[in-house]
Amino acid sequence: MKHHILVTGGTGYIGSHTAVELIEEGFRVTIIDDLSNSEIGVLEGIEAITGVRPEFEKMNICDQEKLFSMLREKQDFDAIIHFAAHKSVPESVQQPLKYYRNNLTSLMNLLAGMEKHRIPCIVFSSSCTVYGQPDVLPVTEKSPIQPAASPYGNTKRIAEEIISDSVVASSFIKGISLRYFNPIGAHQSALIGELPLGVPDNLVPYITQTGIGIRPLLRVFGNDYNTPDGTPIRDYLHVVDLARAHVMAIDRLLNDRQKKRYEVFNLGIGKGVSVLEMIQSFERVSGQKLNHEIHDRRPGDIEKIWADTSYANTELGWRAERSIDDAVLSAWNWEQYYRKHISGRS
Ligand code: WQD
Repeated sequence: MKHHILVTGGTGYIGSHTAVELIEEGFRVTIIDDLSNSEIGVLEGIEAITGVRPEFEKMNICDQEKLFSMLREKQDFDAIIHFAAHKSVPESVQQPLKYYRNNLTSLMNLLAGMEKHRIPCIVFSSSCTVYGQPDVLPVTEKSPIQPAASPYGNTKRIAEEIISDSVVASSFIKGISLRYFNPIGAHQSALIGELPLGVPDNLVPYITQTGIGIRPLLRVFGNDYNTPDGTPIRDYLHVVDLARAHVMAIDRLLNDRQKKRYEVFNLGIGKGVSVLEMIQSFERVSGQKLNHEIHDRRPGDIEKIWADTSYANTELGWRAERSIDDAVLSAWNWEQYYRKHISGRS
């Protein structure tokens, strides 16, 4: 009997890549998504890759009534992977209530639905943003949680606490939060990737849009940081490696391998890479120069962060297998495929 996984936000960037890995591992997948920041056409991409079109319900999970009636009707979910959330850091600063209302109400509705319909497992999409600017690097899961630099980051921190408290109060719910570092890249088929809706906040989509000529140049936000080349350092992780970690987390929950009923894992490659090094990676894999200029620092940016992934390596049995160049090349291939075959798709 196939385990049935509910993937919220499953037409989004990480969600769609995770749906592919789940289907290829033999899970049955139902995606719910309100399509506010993704496109229904992503289902075509998932089907083209796996041969399976995931079941799909368009839904805003802040609508508890609608969520509960779907859970009542389906009745057989073994686990939920919760991606659905607003995720723009700058937008969260402008519109905090939109972020608190959406990101926390949706989670609380899901947890209430799990309790009511006896769905035992949840994997939550969290973020390294909960660490702020760590004092000590690399960051472990025991590193102190710092006051959030944005309402977006605060919703991730609060969400983890809501899940942890709900697990304690429940007689059967158990959970895992996955703290992503910087997800980048796309599936090697180039049939799915990070949908560029609007002007990208994130570095890699901005690099590939500059590379393809949509943006005149990449602004490098500051080169006066205390880092080897002066530009900020991050732990960039291939999205397919990240997706595979979700499959391993689900497997750990369904097979009762947890040491505690609520666990947290850092997911990164365990190495820091600077913005200039990312530009060099793009130039290496694309064979073309990237037009870029040094600008002032971006408010809210931290200087450097990268993960200690030993806990996920030993406990989840997960390790990032793809290199930075693999990830940047996959992002570049996706950008070219998207512009040629998808953008402008209804
Ligand atoms: C990376 C580096 C920028 C764009 C954010 C969220 C995090 C997660 C990932 C959702 C920084 C520099 C960027 C540009 C640049 N989001 N940069 N020029 O800020 O580390 O993390 O996205 O889950 O929660 O906080 O990622 O890609 O925006 O920036 O120089 O045009 O690239 O200054 O140093 P970030 P990013």
